[in-house]
Amino acid sequence: MKRTAATTIGSLLAVGLLAACSGSPAGPGTESGAQPVSWRLALNQTNDHPITLAVEAMADRLAEATDGRVKLEIYPNETLGTQPETLQLLSDNTLELAVISGPQLENLNTDFAVFNSPFVFDDIDHQMKVINDLSIVGDLYASLEASNNATVLGGFTAGERSLYQADRPVTIPADTAGLKIRVQESATHMRMIELMGGSPTPMGFGEVYTALQSGVLDGAENNEVSYVTQKHYEVAPHFSYTRHLIVPDYVVASTTALSKLSAEDRELLMAELAAAIDEQVASWQQATADAIETATAAGATFNEVDADAFRTVLEPLLDETLTTDSARSLYEATRAAAK
Ligand code: GCU
Repeated sequence: MKRTAATTIGSLLAVGLLAACSGSPAGPGTESGAQPVSWRLALNQTNDHPITLAVEAMADRLAEATDGRVKLEIYPNETLGTQPETLQLLSDNTLELAVISGPQLENLNTDFAVFNSPFVFDDIDHQMKVINDLSIVGDLYASLEASNNATVLGGFTAGERSLYQADRPVTIPADTAGLKIRVQESATHMRMIELMGGSPTPMGFGEVYTALQSGVLDGAENNEVSYVTQKHYEVAPHFSYTRHLIVPDYVVASTTALSKLSAEDRELLMAELAAAIDEQVASWQQATADAIETATAAGATFNEVDADAFRTVLEPLLDETLTTDSARSLYEATRAAAK
């Protein structure tokens, strides 16, 4: 059987491992979940992004499955704030759910950096097998509960990421020399661009378009879907297939809010999340093909690079990232899960 998020999280729930792994106070028999709740889920994607569509559908199914006890209101487009801001809202328990990119969590627990590192995952199937297997990630996902009131519930894929530039394509690392390339606010990603030869420029997602347009940035890196939903192809039409990263987009809950759900509602939430993850992953290939078509029709070009050359310059990053026993174990479990 193909191992999907639904089967992995579902089977762990069946044997009661989720509550044990998360260390959250909500356990079987919690009574307070009888109260209907209306939760807000914040994300930074546009309305038509596959993750937004998946969480919208999840909200409908969850309301039905819980007879209206758990309602989710979805806030896309950074309307509730940037990812670092929504993470803070979760910590303050003034928001219940947010989709947060891997690099943001690395700033709270450096072990998350393992999954933000180049070439750790062979492909999206491999990534999904790891980031939704609580026997691998259970401790990591519960690690922010005491410090940040944040419980990671699972992860979507944020796809394979590549470089793109305003003025010219790149084919070898030396081509990035002198280019100011936007990265997410993460030490791993800054170092990654440095090793490639470029000048890393950390910046929030929503600011990238204007910065590319005005020349504050020479390039950025992302997947084809975000390249198009954010319209970056209009201002950086040279997409260069470095395929250097496959980063997770985690679904993170306020630990306090989660603890107030009954065991039954929590189980229903996790089952619908697993289904949403499977849906998003299943739609990703088509969304990518559509994005390439849209960008190409508007004049953007997609070029291949010397992939081995990029892989070679990025090699030192892994040793720099695997600095703790727990990070090394995560990496080993990840590689063991590869085909
Ligand atoms: C992708 C990813 C987002 C992330 C963004 C970024 O779109 O899905 O979660 O915030 O890249 O580069 O900031």
